[in-house]
This record gives sequence, structure tokens and C-alpha cells, in this order.
Amino acid sequence: MKVFSTIKSLQNHLKSVRAQKRSIGLVPTMGSLHKGHHALIAQSRKENDVTVCSIFVNRKQFNNKKDLQKYPRNLANDLQFLKSWGCDTVFAPSEKEIYPNSEAELTINFGTVDKILEGKFRPGHFSGVGIIVSKLFNIVTPDRAYFGLKDIQQCFIIRHLVDELSFGVKLRFLKTVREENGLAVSSRNKRLSKKEFDVASDIFRILNLAKKEIMVTGDIKGGISNSKKILKGMKPIELEYMEPVNMKDFSIVTSEIQKDSRVAICVAAYVGEVRLIDNVIFKLTHE
Ligand code: PAJ
Repeated sequence: MKVFSTIKSLQNHLKSVRAQKRSIGLVPTMGSLHKGHHALIAQSRKENDVTVCSIFVNRKQFNNKKDLQKYPRNLANDLQFLKSWGCDTVFAPSEKEIYPNSEAELTINFGTVDKILEGKFRPGHFSGVGIIVSKLFNIVTPDRAYFGLKDIQQCFIIRHLVDELSFGVKLRFLKTVREENGLAVSSRNKRLSKKEFDVASDIFRILNLAKKEIMVTGDIKGGISNSKKILKGMKPIELEYMEPVNMKDFSIVTSEIQKDSRVAICVAAYVGEVRLIDNVIFKLTHE
């Protein structure tokens, strides 16, 4: 496994990969790797000759300084995982390498999509994601790039970015990997106590409850509002939002929508001090 910390050395390596007409898959991460990241790496290895995993805790996408400081970092551990998963190329740059001009203030406005849900509660977050992902696409110029549907709004933002800026990369969005108790795997789960970890599994349970109710009644508003009530009564879960979203354009569903539309119910909640997000995606099949 080759590990690069500078753009130049990585690009030198990738030049020879490309000269041999070998394809490149990119898996962007912020490290603290887990089963969810593994699924992305495994899929990239299936579809590409070379898999580049980037590890960079991107300060531009953290609107909360404490969250940035507390974000778990352990490069040595991550490298061990990546090696055992068969990843062949790692890009782990320093802050200076990625943002040499710390005063640079480029921002990206994604319009309505970044004013709702995560965008509303984490102002500037998606601009930061857009900047780092654009940089990585430019540095690596991958054939394919892999993202997880756990961060469903991020997937939409990146689809938008690729379409608007004509990046020549194929996007692959993979389903959420879960713990045995249903909780979506996340680097932040490490900060949960045993009790919080158990309680956090209720988030997915309630998401499924809302989904079931909506599938039976077709009443999106009713299903969401019943499930919200249940979640709100659960300590130490502190619900931030629970919203139904139309998968066609990632807009919040405010009235009834057509049968066979794909809908996602998206949730953000604090469990103790830890902010978690999750979603379920399904097709509206009621009559
Ligand atoms: P990070 O949280 O490290 O996640 C890296 C990738 O792994 C993202 O595409 C995320 O959606 C995916 N992922 C995380 N948990 C997952 C799970 N349980 N199942 C499946 N996929 C999962 O997302 C980021 O980093 C950053 O915003 C990044 C895109 C790297 C830009 O900085």
C-alpha cells in the first residue's frame, strides 16, 4: 500500500497508473475508519484497478469548533485497516497541503438544497464539503468516486457539484452500513457511552416505524408527526429534525406526492453530546 502526503507525489504515482490505462476509484474520508468506509473501499476495488482513499479532516465543513476538535483522529490505525482491506493507495495530506492560503474564502452556494436539514442546522457545512470534494476530484481525477447514503444530502450536493461543474467522474452512492442494533455506523459512535449506544438504536427503529405507517396510510405528515412525538419523549435523545424528502430533487415534502415517488425520511438528533444523522429511503406504493 502506497501512502502519499503531498499532491505532487500522489499525482506522479497516478500519472503512471493512467499511462497503463488502469482505472482509478476515489473514496474520500475524514479517517477514523469503520465498516461503512470498508463497504465503499470494497466496491471501489471491485470496479477499479486502483483505489485511492483520502483521509483529511476538513475544517471548512465544521461549523462547530468543538466538533472539529473532538473529531477522532488516528492515522496509524486507519492505515492498518486500509491495508487489511486491500486498499492500494492512500492520500493523507496536511492542512497546509490542502489549504496553503488559510485566508482563502471561496464559498459555494448550492441554492435551496443547502438551506434545509443539515444545511440549515450546519451553516457553511456543504460549502466546505463542496470545496474539499472539488479539490479531491481535481487532484485525483478519478474514474469513479464512492459516497455513502447515510449522508444522503451530501450525495445530492455532490451530484449537483459534478453536474454543474462538469467533473468527469461517475458517482456511486452506497447503502448505509449498520451496527447489529440498527444504528448507522459512524465515526462519532465512538463517543457514545454504552447506554447511549443502546438508546441511539431507537432512531432507526422509529424511522422504520414512520416508514411503515406511511406505506400503509399514505399519510406522510401523519406518519412523521406520530414518530416525532415518540422520539421527542426519549431521553437522552434530543431530536433536531425529522423530515420527509422527495428523492427527485431533495425538497421537503409538504403535500401529498405521486404514487411510486421515492421518499427519504431524514433525521438528525443528539444522543447526549453526540450529533447523529440517519435516514430511510423507500418508494410510496399506497393506492
Ligand atoms: P466521512 O464521515 O469520513 O465519510 C466518508 C464516506 O463514508 C462518506 O461518503 C459517508 O457517507 C460514508 N459513510 C459514513 N458512514 C457510513 C455508513 N454507515 N454506511 C455507508 N457509508 C458511510 O463524509 C465525509 O467523511 C466527508 O464529508 C467527506 C465526503 C470525506 C468530505 O470531507
